[in-house]
Amino acid sequence: GLPARVRIHEVGARDGLQNEKGAVPTAVKAEFIHRLAAAGLTTIEATSFVHPKWVPQLADAEELFPQLADVDARLPVLVPNERGLDRALALGATRIAVFGSATETFASRNLNRTVAESLAMFEPVVARAKEGRAHVRGYLSMCFGDPWEGPVPVHQVVSVAKALLDLGCDELSLGDTIGVATPGHVQALLAALNEAGVTTDRIGVHFHDTYGQALSNTLAALQHGVTTVDASAGGLGGCPYAKSATGNLATEDLVWMLDGLGIETGVDLTALTATSVWMAEQLGRPSPSRTVRALSHK
Ligand code: HMG
Ligand code: MG
Repeated sequence: GLPARVRIHEVGARDGLQNEKGAVPTAVKAEFIHRLAAAGLTTIEATSFVHPKWVPQLADAEELFPQLADVDARLPVLVPNERGLDRALALGATRIAVFGSATETFASRNLNRTVAESLAMFEPVVARAKEGRAHVRGYLSMCFGDPWEGPVPVHQVVSVAKALLDLGCDELSLGDTIGVATPGHVQALLAALNEAGVTTDRIGVHFHDTYGQALSNTLAALQHGVTTVDASAGGLGGCPYAKSATGNLATEDLVWMLDGLGIETGVDLTALTATSVWMAEQLGRPSPSRTVRALSHK
């Protein structure tokens, strides 16, 4: 069966805006996040405390985060290392995410580390975050395919997933960073994780829509018991360090499907669509989301 309720983990302000060519003003980011919360999103990834030269689009994290003090939502932030954790904790962040890779090539390109070295880098981050009672999400990228290495074996993903949970991560987010997954592959990976002792309640899914499979993959995950789904308002997104990573699953497309299935999200689709139309004006190009286009061209 399908779940009665899904928690949407909104990533537009982070995964979306990290990939923009031009700089988005901090005030626009702050307004975006306020509007996402007003539309009913309860978990809104706000920014990343990564090296500003690696992701200049999010170099204003120190300026942005304090402007979100009155936002009524959980505001997780990405943190790759202790330097990033220090920056996030100094601003009062209570939810962080580390981000690992199932493949060596992406670990090297995204984190300048091997998979093992990146896990060693995360170890004190997760330990200190947990000591301070912060919630820790562990992203796992390239769970299905890698632009340099091709298809990624399921056992390789399971092994890094278990390592992230062993560090103390509260939840995992399985990333199809380049959007090559198909539903059978999704179910095979979820089954292998269950077999390895990773329960579905700790698993979220993070699909990119490169081949138009993100919703089908989401439905396959829901049928398997997953209830946490990452999505990006308006379908913004990609990853600057992953060749061929296009937009994330659009939150509007997800909400349209879940509304139709009678699955609760708490999201007001009209308010969310208006937010993405406004954001598209700020960015100077239309949203790639089919639902945003359908609902805004009446
Ligand atoms: P590095 O060059 O190996 O860094 O980069 P380092 O540890 O050698 O440190 C070099 C200098 O950087 C030092 O300064 C550090 O203090 C400074 P110095 O002593 O030379 O003056 N530094 C920092 N400064 C500010 N904040 C920090 C920080 N860390 C070090 N946090 C590093 C290693 C991890 C820092 C770098 O590779 C990095 O920032 N990578 C981030 C890449 C990124 O954000 N990618 C996008 C997110 S992942 C994604 O999008 C996928 C996802 O959506 C899921 C999916 O779709 O698959 C999550
Ligand atoms: Mg992503």
